[in-house]
Amino acid sequence: MGLALEPGVINEVEAQLGFSRPEEVTGDHEDRGLKRATTRPLDSEFTQQFEYRSCKVRDWSAPGEAALNLQKMGFESIDLAGIEKLQTLLSQIREAGEIGLQEARHLRRRLTGAVFPLAGGKCLKLLNIAPEGLIMRKGGPNGLKIDPDLKMTGMNGHDVALAVHGDQDVRGTPLKQIMRGFAPRLFRHQTPDGANNFSPLVLVNMWIPLQQITRPLTLMDRSTLNAREHQLRYALPTDSFLDRSEDMSVNDSWTFLHDDAQQWYFHSHMTHDQAYVFDTLGEPHGSFILPGEDIAEHYYLELQRMCNQLRLGESAKPRVITARDLPSTSTAPLRRAIETMAGLCSSVPLENQGQPAVEVWLTRASEAMDSVVRKSIEMRVVALVLPNVWPFNRGLVS
Ligand SMILES: [Fe+2]
Repeated sequence: MGLALEPGVINEVEAQLGFSRPEEVTGDHEDRGLKRATTRPLDSEFTQQFEYRSCKVRDWSAPGEAALNLQKMGFESIDLAGIEKLQTLLSQIREAGEIGLQEARHLRRRLTGAVFPLAGGKCLKLLNIAPEGLIMRKGGPNGLKIDPDLKMTGMNGHDVALAVHGDQDVRGTPLKQIMRGFAPRLFRHQTPDGANNFSPLVLVNMWIPLQQITRPLTLMDRSTLNAREHQLRYALPTDSFLDRSEDMSVNDSWTFLHDDAQQWYFHSHMTHDQAYVFDTLGEPHGSFILPGEDIAEHYYLELQRMCNQLRLGESAKPRVITARDLPSTSTAPLRRAIETMAGLCSSVPLENQGQPAVEVWLTRASEAMDSVVRKSIEMRVVALVLPNVWPFNRGLVS
């Protein structure tokens, strides 16, 4: 097949991240002295509002990278491997490809009250998982819509986020209504027009990768953000997927302008034994397409075509697949997945090999295709950042 599949340690990839277009910036109508990005309908063309900019995205799991830090950088990873029943549950959700009410209940039960060590001698105690915001996302390689007819509901059918964004303005809807304006005083936050650096109470997103060989999450080291210049208020319409009263029909969130000083991070092989916790109140994040995903998409579509032919009882003829080299900066897990898919394309069973050989091949092809679909779960959590000493850290997950 001529694929260059030498796995190696990569420290960074060059990737396109989606930022607000400078021409979309307007003044804010509220008297906060901030900038705002124009809201367009959810189905409007992505590139009308956003522009792709090339960024270096560093793999924080590579040797020599500094440790993450929730309070300094806006995000950090926590270790979930020690919660065995949670790991079983996450495997089940990954295989099912969706999350049901019962799984959501179990997730909440397993995580509420858990305490995780953080950098800087701190720990994070999860107090409450918000009723809204527990969702599962799925996205195909290179932006491929794997299930175009799937309808978006409260918890399922969400595509992978394309644009860099921050989830919630501490002074905005719906937090303003839910907490009657007290959120900025109660929650620790860094907002362009004022911070609360004293409260131990935080609102964090917990983001669990079920699998992310493709379209990984990237997060910005927030200490490299010039918030006054590059953080924009943005009213996200929610009426297509949330049933809310009229005064809460938007989410006041954030989008961002690109700047060369911003530093971005991802993890090339994170699985659900780890999760990110990041500041819901403004930490910039989004997904991106890894170099080489276009090749994964190509083999995904080839395998899909052959599977359909075999299921119809036809012989699946492999097309002559043009040999393509992977970019040298592609990640080792993506290389392995592409190698597996390429191998399956060239070993499709012939008619005289019989039905059992076809069944085995179909199973392997489905698994290989599924492996390059990004799946993740996220939830909003009210938590406390406390010193990592007894009795504050009682119940510490180790
Ligand atoms: Fe988000």
